Amino acid sequence: MRFKRLINPLLGVAMLGLPLSVAAQESDPDTGLVMAEGWETVRSNCTACHSANLVTQNSGTRNHWEYLIRWMQETQGLWEFQPETEDTILDYLAEYYGPKEDTRRPALPRTLMPDNPYPTVADSG
Ligand code: HEC
Repeated sequence: MRFKRLINPLLGVAMLGLPLSVAAQESDPDTGLVMAEGWETVRSNCTACHSANLVTQNSGTRNHWEYLIRWMQETQGLWEFQPETEDTILDYLAEYYGPKEDTRRPALPRTLMPDNPYPTVADSG
């Protein structure tokens, strides 16, 4: 039991590290886009028809972004990209607007959970 109490706060601190490092990235005040490699390419190609919010509010794998681009090219009049330009855009989107693992809520601390009715390894010792 004592061991568990010690480990939970440590886990909490480790999880806090994730959102903090993301928040440290500066974003462009006009578009909200994270200002990292490739962002200007995304700004000039992805904000002509709709607000950058549509981009920043979305998230997904590289495949997901590629799928969206193809969909816009086939149905919404989005132009074709040079392969290098498309790579830059996809790298950027997958890196900074990737699948939202870290927005899932963290596990509840043991102290906020009801008692476990089943015997656990820790109790059996
Ligand atoms: C030629 C116009 C055009 C350009 C340029 C464009 N889009 Fe779009 N995009 C659209 C239209 C039209 C929609 C549908 C808007 C709506 O649903 O209101 C859309 C929707 C989206 C959506 C929402 C999709 C959904 O599931 O609801 C995302 C995300 C998106 N675009 C990202 C991008 C990105 C990233 C780029 C740059 C690579 C880009 N767009 C460039 C026309 C464009």
